[in-house]
Amino acid sequence: MPENKDYRLVVKTLYGLEEILSKELLALGGREIKKLNRAVSVVGDLGYVYKINLALRTGLRVLLPLTEFQMEDVEHYYEELLAIPWEEHFEVNTTFAVDVVGRNEQLNHSSFAGLKAKDAIVDRFRDKVGDRPTVERGTPEVPIHIHIYQDTIRVYLDASGDSLHKRGYRLAAARAPLNEVLAAGIIMHSKWNGGMPVLDPMCGSGTFLVEAALIAHNMPPNIYREYFGFHFWKGFDEDLYEKIKDGLLGRAKEYEGKIFGRDLDDYALDAASDNIERSMFDDVIRLKRADFFETEPPSAKGLMLVNPPYNVRIAADTHKFYRDMGDMLKREYAGWTVMWITSDLEAIKSIGLRPSRKWNLFNGELECKLLRFDMYEGTKKIHKLR
Ligand SMILES: C[S@@+](CC[C@H](N)C(=O)[O-])C[C@H]1O[C@@H](n2cnc3c(N)ncnc32)[C@H](O)[C@@H]1O
Repeated sequence: MPENKDYRLVVKTLYGLEEILSKELLALGGREIKKLNRAVSVVGDLGYVYKINLALRTGLRVLLPLTEFQMEDVEHYYEELLAIPWEEHFEVNTTFAVDVVGRNEQLNHSSFAGLKAKDAIVDRFRDKVGDRPTVERGTPEVPIHIHIYQDTIRVYLDASGDSLHKRGYRLAAARAPLNEVLAAGIIMHSKWNGGMPVLDPMCGSGTFLVEAALIAHNMPPNIYREYFGFHFWKGFDEDLYEKIKDGLLGRAKEYEGKIFGRDLDDYALDAASDNIERSMFDDVIRLKRADFFETEPPSAKGLMLVNPPYNVRIAADTHKFYRDMGDMLKREYAGWTVMWITSDLEAIKSIGLRPSRKWNLFNGELECKLLRFDMYEGTKKIHKLR
C-alpha cells in the first residue's frame, strides 16, 4: 500500500467542470487546490482519497502519484519503473494495466511506453516475489497511469479503478445517455440544491433525475459502487473506509421535494424506471410518458434540465424542434429556470430566447453549449401580447 501521508493528487474531470470540481475538493477538506486542464490537483492523505472517490460528483478519476523523474533514455525510463516497489502496492494475484498519456521523442508511441512499463512491473515482481501479475486490459483491478510531458515522467496509481461516472445505478441504457459526471456538473452549474421542483421533460435513462436526487439528499454519488481501485491495494484500510462511508451517509438529508421525469419513448421510460429503482429514489422521482409539446408543467415554478436530441445520435429537425421548445417555454414555463445542453450550435439560434448564461462543455466528443434561461414571469404576458 502507498504510505499514509499527504499526496499531491490529480483528479480528472470533464472539460468545463474544473471550477466546480475545485469547490467540491475544497468542501471535502482538500488543500492547495490547483486547477489544470480537465483535472484539478489537490493535497490530501489516504483517508481523503477514500472520501473523494465516494463523494465527488464531478470527478472522473483520482490519481495518486508514485514517482516523477526526468527521463534520459528508454533504458533509464525502464530502470526508474523497475525501482518502484510495486510488490508493496499490490499482490501478485491482482490484475493490472498501464495507461499512458502523452509521448516524447524516445517514447514516441504510447503503446511502446506502456509495454516498457509493463515489462518493468513484471520483472520487478518476478525478482521480488518469484511470480508475475496478469495484465487485464478491460477492467484491471489496479490501473496504473503514466503521464509523459517532454522528458518529465509521472507515474500514478489510479485510486478509482473504473471511472467514477460509473456510479453503479445506471445499468439500463436508453439512447444517447448523458455521462453522469456531466449531468451532475450541469445541475451544479445551476446552483440548485433541492429548493425548487425539478423536471427533465426528455429524461431518457433518467441520469439528470437520479443525479438531482443524489444532490437533494446530499448523498455521496458513488455509494452504490462495490469497488474502487484502492480496494485492491495491499493493506487497504477497510475500517477507515467504512468509517468514512458512514460519516458521509450521516450527512445525508431528508428531501421533501419532487423530481419529475418525462419522455415519449416507452423504452427510455423502462430504462429510467429500472435505474431509478436501483438508485432507491423511486419515492421522490415521478416518471410519466408525455410529449413535451402537449403537456403542462408539473408545477408553477421549477428547474428544468434538458438534453434534447442534437440530430447526431438521435435524428431530429433541430431547428424546428428547438423553435417549438422555445415557444413552449415562453407560453407555459414562466417562473422556471432552464438548463439546456446541446451540440447543435446552429439550432440554438432558433430557440428565440436569450440565455442568461452560457458554458462550454463536452458531451463525449461533442462540443456543446450549456445554456441557462430564466423564464421571468413577464415573459408569458409579453408572448401573449405579440
Ligand atoms: C438525448 S436523449 C436524453 C438522454 C438522457 N439525458 C439520458 O441521460 O439518458 C433525448 C430524449 O428525448 C426524448 N424525446 C424526443 N422528443 C420528445 C418529446 N417531444 N417529448 C418528450 N421526450 C422527447 C427521446 O425519447 C430521448 O429519450
